[in-house]
Amino acid sequence: MSADVIELHPAAARPQTAIERDSRPLLRLLTCGSVDDGKSTLIGRLLHDTGSLTEDQLAALPALSARHGTRGDELDYALLLDGLSAEREQGITIDVAYRYFGTAARAFIVADSPGHAEYTRNMVTAATHCELAVLLVDARAGLSQQTCRHACIAALLGIRQLVLAVNKMDRVGFEHAVFARIQRQFEGFAASLGFSDVQAIPLCAIDGDNLVQASVRMPWYRGPTLLQHLESVPTGAPTERAAVLPVGWVCRPDAEFRGHAGLLQGGALERGQDVTVLPSGQRSRVRGLWLGERSLQRAEAGQSVLVQLEDEIDASRGDVLVAEGAGVECSDQFEADIVWLSEQPMLPGRPYRIQLGSAHAQATLAQPKFRLNVETLERLAARTLQVNEIGRANLALDRALPFAPYTELPELGGGILIDPLTQQTVGAVMLRHALRRAGNLHWQALDIDRAARALQKGQRPAVLWLTGLSGAGKSTLANAIERRLHALGRHSMLLDGDNVRHGLNRDLGFTDADRVENIRRVAEVAKLMTEAGLICLISFISPFRSERGFARGLFGAGEFFEVFVDAPLNIAEGRDPKGLYAKARRGELDNFTGISSPYEPPETPDLHLRTDQTDPETLAEQVIAHLRAAGVLQPEA
Ligand code: ADX
Repeated sequence: MSADVIELHPAAARPQTAIERDSRPLLRLLTCGSVDDGKSTLIGRLLHDTGSLTEDQLAALPALSARHGTRGDELDYALLLDGLSAEREQGITIDVAYRYFGTAARAFIVADSPGHAEYTRNMVTAATHCELAVLLVDARAGLSQQTCRHACIAALLGIRQLVLAVNKMDRVGFEHAVFARIQRQFEGFAASLGFSDVQAIPLCAIDGDNLVQASVRMPWYRGPTLLQHLESVPTGAPTERAAVLPVGWVCRPDAEFRGHAGLLQGGALERGQDVTVLPSGQRSRVRGLWLGERSLQRAEAGQSVLVQLEDEIDASRGDVLVAEGAGVECSDQFEADIVWLSEQPMLPGRPYRIQLGSAHAQATLAQPKFRLNVETLERLAARTLQVNEIGRANLALDRALPFAPYTELPELGGGILIDPLTQQTVGAVMLRHALRRAGNLHWQALDIDRAARALQKGQRPAVLWLTGLSGAGKSTLANAIERRLHALGRHSMLLDGDNVRHGLNRDLGFTDADRVENIRRVAEVAKLMTEAGLICLISFISPFRSERGFARGLFGAGEFFEVFVDAPLNIAEGRDPKGLYAKARRGELDNFTGISSPYEPPETPDLHLRTDQTDPETLAEQVIAHLRAAGVLQPEA
């Protein structure tokens, strides 16, 4: 997995640590807030005051504080975290660091997103699997947009318990009124986010007030200290439910044995139990269960197990074994909440890759139903989502995957969206429910199929996809190719950007989002044309690699030919057949390709044709020769 792909379920991927095997109840929490709200000091001091530091760390603190500290002669607890964060010294940025501490009553894991606290992606990663969030607020500043955003994300990711840690009370003279105002302001906001429990605590983390010891400087506060609260909140005893096993890999040491390995979610699984394999729906029964080398009668949720079934079932990575009543269904269309994590805005219709459980599929988002104003929770109209924005949209996959709503089973309802070209995580997705229409749409079987139609025309259908700048010569070339096809008695159809934009795509302009939709529709039309048995020529700028990749993905091998119609910008601009470059240069035309909107040249086109070096008729001959060599056209008689 690339370093840029965030792990939405880090706890699931890690082996159990000693603290997780501990018999004390475990609370997983995360700390969040803006950069300067005192997060490092709070965690450092908490580790210190609960006696969770090693002798070495304790011994090093005075010298560290003297050298790097920002607190004069006093100890600087924030440095403990820097000291603990080897990643900083090595110059490595990791998304989330886990700190472990404990008291006699409880063990704690704190997920902390170090470094670029402003990046929401770290917070999203850290929040997964946490039961409680400590939201830090600087008493002087009150609630910031970042505070509100983090509260929204915590709520979306299913965290129900929240501590509003109003820090730096020393800077506001330990005034009750300041605390009360922030508390009131937040309560109004949090009420609609669905938190079951919000505890506000006034802190001066740097001096330890109300962390472990009750503060003598804030006698007006009668509530618990942070540690008392963390020790008393309910911990997430997993709710008992039916077993779900997302298959991570299939183990086939020999022809006899086939085992399905994965991390068991939900409930226990026993030998002899009936299971269904999704998405195929095949049914079988558990024959054997292994935990490492050890054969088990019964496996518990949270164990990484190998399952052998009674029947030879062809399940593979991404499939899910479910026990009766697991509440896992298959669908290819959903409504989902989305946290957008990429600097590149979300583009409705663009093909992304989704990772859901251990499965992958191609995913496209519709235009958002709304984006959230994170401070007022108002639902705003949106055409896209920008970095760090939260919204809701329908999501369509290219195949049905097993899923459960995020709130019921985060492992099968929480996914990440990946840009297939850069391999970067661009969004986090929380599935709400499947769209009913997905279940009501079926493929209609037709008696006359594409092969029959192609046979009648005596040809192999294909798509010639011409891409290039405006003025590069696409239309001229496409026209010359089609004349030749026609003369050869081939059945063809030419779709030209300017023409299609007068009809089918009349509603679209030239923003990135509209061009994505323009190409998506044309690719689908090209597919229909090939099903009709035609050789289809597409002459569109089609400036983005993603959408050309999407178009290619709709066709079989040897059916789709990407033709890069290449002329340098200055040549295309010099031709300027429609006077549009001149207009764009004068500032009278926005988003003009090559001037104020990007063109991403193909990296590996099937044909790369330089129209500034060779005349269109010769190039058209080259295309025909290529189609002959590829078997689309008969060899020359
Ligand atoms: S695409 O980028 O979405 O593929 P398309 O091929 O449909 O574009 O349309 C391009 C044609 O629209 C150009 O040949 C040009 O005549 C016209 N046009 C008008 N405005 C623009 C613009 N801003 N950028 C590019 N082409 C434009």
